[in-house]
Amino acid sequence: MIPIRFGTDEEFQRVRQLFLDHGFTDEEVSKRYEEGRNPFLPYGKPNHLPAESDAQEALIGLFLKSASTTREHLLALFGSQGVTSLERLGLLQTSADGRLQGSVRIRPMFELYIISDHWLPAEHRDQGFADDVVFPPDTKNALTYLPFLPLFPCQRYLEVCGGSGAAALIAAKNFAQHAYSFDITERSTAFAQFSSRLNGISNFTARQGDLYEPAGDLTFDRIAAHPPFVPVLDHTWTFHAGGQDGEQITRRLIQELPSYLAPGGRFYCRCLGSDREEGPMEVRLRRWLGAHQAEFDIALAVIQTLDPAGYVSTSLLRSQSGTEELSRWKQFFDRARIYRFLACMIVIQRRAEPRTVFTARREHGPYSGPQELEWLIQWETLRAKGEARQMVLHSKLKAGPVELTMRHTPGDGDWEMQGQVLSVKHPYRSSWEVEPWAAYLLPKPAGKMTGLDVYRHFVEQGALSPETPIEAFADALAELVSGGFLVPDTHPHPTPKKHPWNTGE
Ligand SMILES: C[S@@+](CC[C@H](N)C(=O)[O-])C[C@H]1O[C@@H](n2cnc3c(N)ncnc32)[C@H](O)[C@@H]1O
Repeated sequence: MIPIRFGTDEEFQRVRQLFLDHGFTDEEVSKRYEEGRNPFLPYGKPNHLPAESDAQEALIGLFLKSASTTREHLLALFGSQGVTSLERLGLLQTSADGRLQGSVRIRPMFELYIISDHWLPAEHRDQGFADDVVFPPDTKNALTYLPFLPLFPCQRYLEVCGGSGAAALIAAKNFAQHAYSFDITERSTAFAQFSSRLNGISNFTARQGDLYEPAGDLTFDRIAAHPPFVPVLDHTWTFHAGGQDGEQITRRLIQELPSYLAPGGRFYCRCLGSDREEGPMEVRLRRWLGAHQAEFDIALAVIQTLDPAGYVSTSLLRSQSGTEELSRWKQFFDRARIYRFLACMIVIQRRAEPRTVFTARREHGPYSGPQELEWLIQWETLRAKGEARQMVLHSKLKAGPVELTMRHTPGDGDWEMQGQVLSVKHPYRSSWEVEPWAAYLLPKPAGKMTGLDVYRHFVEQGALSPETPIEAFADALAELVSGGFLVPDTHPHPTPKKHPWNTGE
C-alpha cells in the first residue's frame, strides 16, 4: 500500500510552509535529533508522543520516530487546516489504537524534505519490513555515500537504485539541469517523485525499472548508485540483497555503464566489492567494462576491508540459523575464491578525448574522504592527459606527511640496506618501496624549489646523470605526488578532517 497522495502544487506548498513555520527544518531537527543519540541510527520504535509536545516535537515524533498522538493534540497544534493539509497528501494514518501517526518518514536534510519508510533497528526487521521498503537517506551507509558525490554542475544526472532519490534531489535542487532517479520498486519511485513535489522541484523525474532500463536512449554526465550490496544466501529485501557475493547488482551496473555514461562523465558507486583469486577488485572492475574498457578511468577508494569468514560468522550470529547455512556459505566461498571484502567507493570516469586511462586503488587513512577522492581523480587525470609533467616541473614542491623506513640485514661485516619504504596516512594510507634517490629527494625542495630546480640541482651535484630525460624525471615526481609523498603547490593536499566512516589511526 502506498500511503502518499499526489495533491496539487498548492497542497504541497501548504505542507512545506507548515513545516517551515514550525521549525521542522534541517538545522533545527539536526540539533535535537542528534542529541545524545547515534545520528546514524534512525529511530524507528513506535511510541506515544508526550501530550505536552510542541509543534516541532510533534512533527519530529510523527515523521522521524513513528510516534502517534491524538487527533485533538494535532488540531490544537496545527489547526484544522494544518491537519487537513497533511491528510490531503496522505501523510497521516490511523494507528492500531486509533491514534494518528506519520504514514512515512520525512527527513529534513540538505535543505530538502526527503521521504522514505519508517526505519527499524536491525533486530526488529524480520517482522517489520516489506520487501519494497523505501530506504532512508540518513542510515550509516547512505551517509557514507551522499557526501562523496560531487556538487559541481552537470546537465543530466542519474541516481540509479535511487530509493528515496536523495542524491538526485540534491542534484536537481543545487546543480543539475535535470536529475533522474530510477528504482525497481513502484514504492520508491512514487516516494522520490513525491519528495520532488514536496520540495517544489520541477527538474526531476523518477522512473520505475530495472537499473538503467527506464533511460531509453538517454545518456548522463553523472551517475550515482548505492545499490543493494549485502551478501545473502536467500533474498531478504530489495534494498538490501546483493546476491551471494554482494556484487550481483553492482556488476550489472558497471557492465551496462558504457551505454549510459556520456564522455567526460563520472559514475560513483558506494558498495561492497571483493578481491578474489581471479583478480583484485580494480582488475575485475575493468573486465566488467568489457570491450569499452580503454575509454574508462577507475578510482577505487577502499574504506574498510572485511574478512569473509568474519562476515559469515556475524551473519550466522544474526540469523541464528546454524550449521546448514554455514555449509552453504562454505560451498559458496570455495567456488568464488573471495579472500577479502571491501567496503568501497568506486569512481569510473569516461575520458572525453583520446588518451591513456588510469586505474588507481587507494586505502582510506584516518582522514580520507570526498576531498581526498577528488584530489586523487584530478591528479590521475592530469597524469593520464600528460599535463602533470609540466605541473611538477614548474610548481614549488615539498614533502608530504611522510615517514621513511629503511630495512637493513647483516651483510659482509656490516649492515646492508635492503630497501627503503615511504609511508603516509594522508590523503590515503600508502606504503611504497622506493629507490634510494626518491627517499633522498623528498626533503630537498622544502617548498622553495620547483621540479626543474631539483632536476638541475641533482645533475649539478652528480646525483643524477645529465643523460636522464627530464620527462622521465618529471614522471617519477608525478608518481610520488600520486602516492601522497610529494606535494606541488598547484595541487595541494586537502586539509585533513575527521569523518565518521574512518575508524582507527
Ligand atoms: C541501498 S538502497 C539505496 C537507496 C538510495 N540510493 C540511498 O542511498 O538512500 C538500494 C535501492 O536499490 C533499489 N534496487 C534494487 N534492485 C534494483 C534494480 N535491479 N534496479 C533498480 N533499483 C534496484 C532498491 O529498491 C533500493 O531502493
